Amino acid sequence: MFIDNLISKDPSIKRHIVKTLTWRLVGTIDTIILSTIITGNVTVGAKIGGFELFTKMLLYYFHERVWYRINFGLPNRERRALKLKGGVAKNIHFQKFKISRSQRNTQNRHTSFVIWFTGLSGSGKSTLANGLEELLFKRNIKCYALDGDNVRLGLNSDLDFSAEGRKENIRRVAEISQLMSDAGVLVIASFISPFKEDRERAKTIIGEKNFLEIFVDCPLDVCEERDTKGLYSKAIKGEIKEFTGISSPYERPENPYLTIPSGTMSVKEGIDYIFKNIEQKLRLEKVAVDEVDAKEAKS
Ligand code: ADX
Repeated sequence: MFIDNLISKDPSIKRHIVKTLTWRLVGTIDTIILSTIITGNVTVGAKIGGFELFTKMLLYYFHERVWYRINFGLPNRERRALKLKGGVAKNIHFQKFKISRSQRNTQNRHTSFVIWFTGLSGSGKSTLANGLEELLFKRNIKCYALDGDNVRLGLNSDLDFSAEGRKENIRRVAEISQLMSDAGVLVIASFISPFKEDRERAKTIIGEKNFLEIFVDCPLDVCEERDTKGLYSKAIKGEIKEFTGISSPYERPENPYLTIPSGTMSVKEGIDYIFKNIEQKLRLEKVAVDEVDAKEAKS
């Protein structure tokens, strides 16, 4: 009963219990044989084996459980999968490919990561993303802007604006951003992403050091007044349900990488400020770039 309860809470426990039992059987037979050979006495051999059966079983099980929580030596994707849990796909094995992210970065001569804009609708996320992408493109940085409205017209057109719909929207976008940044592209994602938990999940999917959260902080009344898409007036009249800021909450980031007060700061100032803060992170170690130069000179 106790074990059933334990397994229903975490199915990985079942595997560890079975592994504990099978390994102990093999180990105990080995101990009995060795002890019998050394002592020349089967009874002593069986006693040592029997005593060891319990102590080592317990030690093995706890050792397994401790290692289950340790990320050391796991590839990134397995590490992520362990943290995220909840996946339904079974029998999936991580395939390692020869070309790595750092090789792609070296070839591109810049690093790749994800700039994640969050903020109310109409706060200026897409405008900043657009300007930043243009600036980076002109500097030969491989970049791509993923935008809420655009993604929801295609890949995520099956999702609504309920909490569940937004959660799945952010999860999929985070997975895409992770793949694109792994491919060497600097991703500029602009999504309202109103829920802290969803942004935290995106950070886990993308990896903490590659996730730069930028809060586009514009007061609700300014967004309402701008109402560039005419959505606020509709939401206030009740024509749009679950509209962020009106009938659905926005949870402000507590500790963003940068905050852009877009109600008072100009678009140019905002873009320059962001660029100044990512310039260093985009730089590769000189050694890596020299390697590419040497290869190119040879070929
Ligand atoms: S999120 O909340 O799931 O992150 P996302 O950024 O993809 O939202 O999409 C937001 C865009 O969808 C808004 O800029 C707006 O144009 C449009 N939209 C339509 N309905 C809603 C709604 N109920 N709440 C917020 N935005 C909406």
